[in-house]
Amino acid sequence: MVGMDGMIRWDDTGSMTGMIRHENLGLVELVKNPEIQGRLYEEIKSVVAGEEAKEIEEEEAHKMPYLKAVVLEGLRRHPPGRFVLPHSVTEDTVLGGYKVPKRGTVNFMVAEIGRDPAVWDEPMAFKPERFMGEEEPVDITGNRGIKMMPFGAGRRICPGIGLAMLHLEYYLANMVKSLSGRKSKVTKLT
Ligand code: HEM
Repeated sequence: MVGMDGMIRWDDTGSMTGMIRHENLGLVELVKNPEIQGRLYEEIKSVVAGEEAKEIEEEEAHKMPYLKAVVLEGLRRHPPGRFVLPHSVTEDTVLGGYKVPKRGTVNFMVAEIGRDPAVWDEPMAFKPERFMGEEEPVDITGNRGIKMMPFGAGRRICPGIGLAMLHLEYYLANMVKSLSGRKSKVTKLT
């Protein structure tokens, strides 16, 4: 079991911190759900077959759909930013029945959007399977509708989204590969 207890931290000083925070919370979910970590480890082993000692490369991470699903579920359940950056409207606007005056500030509730029970089945549960085998995969860029938006959406969407997804998958895969099988001092997490 991954022993990552005690590493959760939070500030809003930059995207790297956001990624670290996201990974830590994702890892806590793996500690809480060892069967998910086990499935992830099996996928990693099947892709790197016989070469477990070396670092997982970017191309190998692309061959791991469950890894991507775990990262996406982590971003849905624990988005590093609870809000996107504040946006404002350029003219009087009606949004969801509410009048927003010109230059009024709009904050999008990223975390709540990803946990909306009208959209997500058991929204507080950590279930990477929701991102597997769908005919219409969830689009986190918001181009085909918004079910979650950890990187924002539209013209001001995070320009680091590609780098961030790559980094998250790469980091998580190598961490799980290195630490799976080790004993943890963690006995109970709620
Ligand atoms: C898990 C990692 C990351 C998450 C969750 C994240 C999320 C976000 C969010 C929510 C926004 C605001 C979008 C909006 O206002 O609509 C944003 C903006 C931005 N992000 Fe990221 N980000 C991450 C990583 C990165 C990385 C790795 C970089 C750079 C290499 C980056 C660069 C930026 C920049 C420059 C903006 C401002 C864009 C603008 O205002 O036009 N981010 N990010």
